[in-house]
Amino acid sequence: MANKPLFITDTILRDAHQSQAATRMRIEDMLPACEKLDKIGYWSLECWGGATFDVCMRFLNEDPWERLRKLREAMPNTKLQMLLRGQNLLGYKHYADDVVDAFVQKSIENGIDVVRVFDALNDPRNMAQAMKSIKKHGGICEAALCYTVSPVHNEDYFVELAKELESMGADTIAIKDMANLLLPYEAYSLVKKLKQHLKPETLVHLHTHNTTGTGDMVNLMAAQAGVDIVDCALSPMANGTAQPATEALVATLQGTERDTGLDLEALADVASYFRKVANKMKADGILDPKVLNVDVQTLLYQVPGGMLSNLLSQLKQAGAEDKYYDALAEVPRVRKDFGYPPLVTPTSQIVGTQAVLNVLSGERYKMLPKESKGLLRGEYGKLPAEVNEDVRRKAIGDAEVITCRPADLIEPELPGYREETKAFAKCDEDVLSYALFPQVASKFFENRDKKPAEATVDENGFRVLYVDDRS
Ligand code: CO
Repeated sequence: MANKPLFITDTILRDAHQSQAATRMRIEDMLPACEKLDKIGYWSLECWGGATFDVCMRFLNEDPWERLRKLREAMPNTKLQMLLRGQNLLGYKHYADDVVDAFVQKSIENGIDVVRVFDALNDPRNMAQAMKSIKKHGGICEAALCYTVSPVHNEDYFVELAKELESMGADTIAIKDMANLLLPYEAYSLVKKLKQHLKPETLVHLHTHNTTGTGDMVNLMAAQAGVDIVDCALSPMANGTAQPATEALVATLQGTERDTGLDLEALADVASYFRKVANKMKADGILDPKVLNVDVQTLLYQVPGGMLSNLLSQLKQAGAEDKYYDALAEVPRVRKDFGYPPLVTPTSQIVGTQAVLNVLSGERYKMLPKESKGLLRGEYGKLPAEVNEDVRRKAIGDAEVITCRPADLIEPELPGYREETKAFAKCDEDVLSYALFPQVASKFFENRDKKPAEATVDENGFRVLYVDDRS
């Protein structure tokens, strides 16, 4: 095989701190590193989307659009990448197509090059408008397969899905494994199949975490199988619930046909800066070193780590911690009844809560929250497999099941949002911030023009930028 450098996307500015530190890295912690990051030669830097948008306004008193513009200005030579939840954008419900189009347009205008778009159910109809808009506004369209394990989610399923997304205009296909469930040899096999079945110009991009301790091996096996791009995070915030470390993979591949060409010393240099940021977050209690533990439960039960801790806390609240293993055993049964949704936000919460309720109430599906009903009614899109019709009847009776694309039922929303925000929105970006998080954005706008309080120093000696910073 001729030399074929492996491309690297670094997640230090988005998923790494979202996974390890509740997305709390601030723009001022990022900017001092940008000049160096921009010179590394990454395929892209993931720096926006996911939870950053919400957290910026809710906790950091930062305008997410302003953050993006600053990053763009500071890194003119590197592709900037974001994560987008299809028709949900960065929020938690389906938006009308006009809002999706405007949001994608503004993301690209403000500096995004690559948009990774996914849907929790892997329903391409929920990704179609976003993908169309990415292409229309000149972005690179990366469509993601949410990786999960079930009787229907086999290799053929993912290959077919990838081909469909490619035919819808995807420039690159991402394997998005939120829970580090894809094991090294499976990764090898899946990447090989995808490379065989996709067009040569369609790049395959692997995204995993190191939650179950297999992430580095997954990346290496994927590299062996010919994957084009992998996600890594600079070492100060790598591993555990975040991505495997960039430096480790770069060193591993040096001198091989997949040599990344990245300079280890340059990486070490920029990593030394982020080590200080990470240490500050540890001292501040924002980054708990527990995130670095290998999660054996996920290897055993194939249930994402975050979901297990949610299960436990729901049971604790009900004073029924002893039912933990019953609830854990109930998760795959509920998932089967619900047509095997991948376990990712929001389906992981829906399935987890239902499993807890089934165990606590002593009768399965005696209690059905409205989210369970919505999922069974088709409000979130098409479920990957047949659902249990008895359970569905229990949930929604004879109500009609939605079989069309859910967003087809939503009238254009932008004019309404413009009207609602005309007193305080200064630009279209403000209207979109409000559309996604009405309450959070309203409060943010109120505070935005107020002068920040004097910078003070907290009990640990770290500066507190705004008085109500930690609320
Ligand atoms: Co991730």
